[in-house]
Amino acid sequence: MPYAEITGWGKCVPPAVLRNEDLATFIDTSDEWITTRTGIKERRVLHCNLSDMARVASLHALAAADLDPMEIDLILLGSLTSDSQCPNTASIVADQLGARNAAAIDINSACTGFLYGLHLGTNLIKTGAHQKILVIGGEFITHYMNWSQREVAVLFGDACGAVVIEASESETGMIASRIGCESDAKYAIQITNVGSGYSRLTDDFLYNAWNFEGQEVFKRAVKAMAQASADVLDQAGMSLEDVKLVVPHQANKRILDALAKRIGISEDKVFVNVHKYGNTSAGTIPVALAEALEEDRIKPGDHILMASFGAGLTYGAGLIKWSNRVSPLITCDAELPPCEKTGLEIIASHVDRYKKHSLESVS
Ligand SMILES: CC(C)(COP(=O)(O)OP(=O)(O)OC[C@H]1O[C@@H](n2cnc3c(N)ncnc32)[C@H](O)[C@@H]1OP(=O)(O)O)[C@@H](O)C(=O)NCCC(=O)NCCS
Repeated sequence: MPYAEITGWGKCVPPAVLRNEDLATFIDTSDEWITTRTGIKERRVLHCNLSDMARVASLHALAAADLDPMEIDLILLGSLTSDSQCPNTASIVADQLGARNAAAIDINSACTGFLYGLHLGTNLIKTGAHQKILVIGGEFITHYMNWSQREVAVLFGDACGAVVIEASESETGMIASRIGCESDAKYAIQITNVGSGYSRLTDDFLYNAWNFEGQEVFKRAVKAMAQASADVLDQAGMSLEDVKLVVPHQANKRILDALAKRIGISEDKVFVNVHKYGNTSAGTIPVALAEALEEDRIKPGDHILMASFGAGLTYGAGLIKWSNRVSPLITCDAELPPCEKTGLEIIASHVDRYKKHSLESVS
């Protein structure tokens, strides 16, 4: 049975920055509160569509693997913030890339979308059903944000990453993985007022409100990611000493510290970029992976542990054995269309819309 080697990787982060201080201009919050509770200093705001970010990240990943889009036979796109319900975003990305031989599937498991995709893609390659798969994870979460809810608005940002996995005889890629879901607690993170579960006849329809049990999710995230990590190490017959780097979901620096403590690994072995981007949901792991490679944090043959947690409440972990190559075969200069606006300017009309709606609801 072949392995699924990661042969390409890429990221796309939008240029417009939204700093903690910018949020404090219209929400009752402060840089001090956000930094001490989450470690986040700033996040990015997208000025186009999720598919545009996915296209750019994918072009980088395809170049790194030196593959033509026509060689890809499946695209798995993890996201909860699709361009549209129909067509699915994976199809839009396939068309933009010219990946005419690829099947295209969206995976909505929220923050775990990329890890779920890598688990599924790896196993499809192992069975021989597919040979070359593009796995994408990304989010345009600012589009779905309720900017009057300070307890969530400060946590999230937009970004996207992608990897190419290819059938290989050498023992590399995701060598052990486990995914799961604590569905009994599904409403601990909930985005309301969009979808067929909500009546179109109410004034609230399409005004998203987030139900968000932050402390409950925090506790469950640490526990589930630690357990899934232990399970994949067991599966692979390895221990934490074999792991060179942990590339976890980036939701909150305090969650990362608690995870490191619970699994018993030193904090310097945990890759962290949550301070720059906030929680980009399905985008966090592939973006962190691409940055870990850019920063020479991954060496040939290293074992990398990934762990994730998100709405659903979905969770998972994967153990990756990196191949012999840690640099792209070809570099690529694809980028998003230029953006003249600041993060604050992009969201301004959206913020006003929510302000107006909450005033109307009160009166
Ligand atoms: C959300 C989270 C940062 C909150 O941190 P916390 O330490 O649990 O904070 P609390 O919820 O106890 O809130 C403490 C106080 O800060 C206030 N507060 C909440 N958001 C605030 C903000 N943006 N600015 C200032 N104050 C805020 C609360 O109203 C509360 O005030 P009170 O004590 O007067 O009631 C943290 O629980 C978390 O990261 N949870 C998991 C994140 C998550 O779910 N990610 C998505 C899935 S991975």
